[in-house]
Amino acid sequence: MGPPLLNPVPKSLSPAGLTRGVAVQISGVRHVFPGGVEAIRRVDLDIAPGEFVALLGPSGCGKSTLLRLVAGLDEPTAGRVEVDAAAGSDDGRPLDRRADVACVFQDAHLLPWRTALHNAALPLELRGVPSADRLSAAAAALAAVGLGGAEHRYPAQLSGGMRMRVSIARALVTRPRLLLMDEPFAALDEITRQRLDDLLRRLWADTGATVLFVTHSTQEAVFLATRAVVMSGRPGRVVLDRPIDLPRERSADLRADVAFARHAGAVYAALERGEAVPA
Ligand SMILES: Nc1ncnc2c1ncn2[C@@H]1O[C@H](COP(=O)(O)OP(=O)(O)OP(=O)(O)O)[C@@H](O)[C@H]1O
Ligand SMILES: [Mg+2]
Repeated sequence: MGPPLLNPVPKSLSPAGLTRGVAVQISGVRHVFPGGVEAIRRVDLDIAPGEFVALLGPSGCGKSTLLRLVAGLDEPTAGRVEVDAAAGSDDGRPLDRRADVACVFQDAHLLPWRTALHNAALPLELRGVPSADRLSAAAAALAAVGLGGAEHRYPAQLSGGMRMRVSIARALVTRPRLLLMDEPFAALDEITRQRLDDLLRRLWADTGATVLFVTHSTQEAVFLATRAVVMSGRPGRVVLDRPIDLPRERSADLRADVAFARHAGAVYAALERGEAVPA
């Protein structure tokens, strides 16, 4: 027997198994790395349960650093980061950052000697979920990302887009209440990326999780998010915080819409302004 169960085993990723997102409060956060690099300065950001926030900013402005602070992988030098279970909890249980927060990075980080199914099941295995339960949960997560027929393939037998979908399935298998994504689709071709953007929007709508998504693409940010946050060059500060009030149902033709272009233009202008801010 492994360690005791920290969370109920997910039954499905359908709306019936809806997870309520958590709130994230970032107040007056500053982060200085050993050696003196000030990555971020005075960042304030309040994220409500179930929001989809896109985070943009020039390279090196501290986006990944901020994500690590929210994940609890690092402590801020000053200020507070709170991931608030109470506000979003559906059953009153305390938040467990390991169990309720999932991260997806630019590289899929799959174990090459494990099949897609066993990669997706890994977080449940680490938590001691019995084999039959974790494999059925992993199969459901793979089906949710459109990899129903590929459970028994190894990473080397999958395309880059498929590997990324396994990585998303592995993140979803614990039914996280907060999903942190750091440029997950940056290395993929445009068509694959748009398909995964579509998929992610649907999964977000289905699960109710809070999402914080880092991207360099203004188009991707506006397509995905309910809110776009732009940071300045290092040390990063918030220079734009804009609600993206586009319809909840978003399809590819939205990208040709005037309102879409207006949002993308505003985000782009903020990126340019942010670049110009002297460090
Ligand atoms: N462990 C570390 N030690 C020292 N400096 C670091 C460390 N990690 C990051 N930095 C520095 O902190 C700053 C912010 O880095 P971070 O990775 O958060 O930027 P980013 O916005 O994610 O950039 P990119 O868009 O290129 O991914 C950079 O100047 C980086 O060199
Ligand atoms: Mg980064």
